[in-house]
Amino acid sequence: MSERGNKIQEKYRNKNEKKKIKVMTIFGTRPEAIKMAPVIKELQKRKQIKCIVCVTAQHREMLDQVLEVFKIYPDYDLNIMKTNQSLSEITAKVLKKIEKIIKKEKPNIVLVHGDTTTAFASALAAFYVHTDIGHVESGLRTWNKYEPYPEEINRQMIDGLTDICFAPTNTSKENLLKEGREKKSIYVTGNTVIDALKTTLKEKFNHDILKWIGNDRLVLLTTHRRENIGEPMRNTFQAIRHLVEDIKDIKVVYPAHLNNKVRDIANEVLNNCDRIKIIEPLNVIDFHNIMNKAYIILTDSGGIQEEATFLGKPVLVLRNTTERLEEMKVGNIKVIGTEQEKIYEETKRLLNNQNEYNNMKKSELYKDINASKNIVDIIIKKYCSS
Ligand code: UD1
Ligand code: UDP
Repeated sequence: MSERGNKIQEKYRNKNEKKKIKVMTIFGTRPEAIKMAPVIKELQKRKQIKCIVCVTAQHREMLDQVLEVFKIYPDYDLNIMKTNQSLSEITAKVLKKIEKIIKKEKPNIVLVHGDTTTAFASALAAFYVHTDIGHVESGLRTWNKYEPYPEEINRQMIDGLTDICFAPTNTSKENLLKEGREKKSIYVTGNTVIDALKTTLKEKFNHDILKWIGNDRLVLLTTHRRENIGEPMRNTFQAIRHLVEDIKDIKVVYPAHLNNKVRDIANEVLNNCDRIKIIEPLNVIDFHNIMNKAYIILTDSGGIQEEATFLGKPVLVLRNTTERLEEMKVGNIKVIGTEQEKIYEETKRLLNNQNEYNNMKKSELYKDINASKNIVDIIIKKYCSS
């Protein structure tokens, strides 16, 4: 092509670029990355959108594991993580660094996910510079200030700042309406974690952990919540130890969070037991597929309650309360708290009582919803026509 032809084409390209709406996704931890990944993939598919990916790296290694699996290459990486970081430190660093990026990029809308401190601080920074905010996974509530801590209040504060609420379920929409939000700002979209899960599950899957499990029953354990660090976590591990001593055909796999405070308690209570394996965090493909082979799951995680329900795996929730009410109604999850005796009894009953097990082994939720597509369609409708 002639030089003049090249110039015309470039001018045309630039003009088209300028017409695109800019959507900036901001996230920083493993669960946000897993649940934002399908939204980013969907944004990148649409010709009307320029997608900008910004990570705070509130988590470093655990975030990078997810970015690698989904092949997401951030445009901005704030790299803020510090060992034993406090909530104030995370908030202050994110607020300060994000503001500059939003001012430079001037996105039409910033998307944050869920209830982390990255999500809260990013939403606050966007609000301070008059930028629209979309909240993915909006409206989850326990109504209990300290459970989960600080996530419950993060969610409420983020929703207070949000312009478009992407509620995963009808219950979350109802919660938002109860708080007096305008109906027209709320959309029930489904849950993006299920979009992610649909891309990671494999029909044929091998892993050394599964070889180690052999014909025994796999009990998959995760626990990391701030409010559980200390006595509640020690109780949980002690209950697990007793269970393994009493029930001979189970093996426990615990991919431990990288938080040293969590690891110290785990190593202290769960060491020297040949049917319990404490392992490094699994990449999300391995985790989802190992979860799919589990007999039961014990967890204080939010996302795992949703994923397990999709997979039809019974979950005992190591918390006093849950915001995942649909899952509880279906019967897949049961909140059992963090008392040692209660964890021992409830888990033993579920392992020994086939009827109870069958009653919890359901997968009626989340089947045919493409949450990421719904979210991006809503953004296009709102910003491309205005
Ligand atoms: C955060 C979220 C929580 C979410 C969890 C998912 C907040 C307040 N909490 O909690 O909602 O459920 O992530 O896992 O936003 N660490 C590493 N490498 C990593 C990740 C963490 O070394 O890749 C260590 C660091 O010492 C860090 C500590 O873990 O200081 C705690 O991380 P932080 O993000 O503050 O809290 P989480 O408990 O992970
Ligand atoms: N997960 C993972 N590797 C692991 C443990 C969990 O990829 O070793 C995934 C899991 O499938 C879920 C998410 O991480 O999607 C849950 O993260 P976490 O429990 O840390 O956070 P929460 O959901 O409680 O916010």
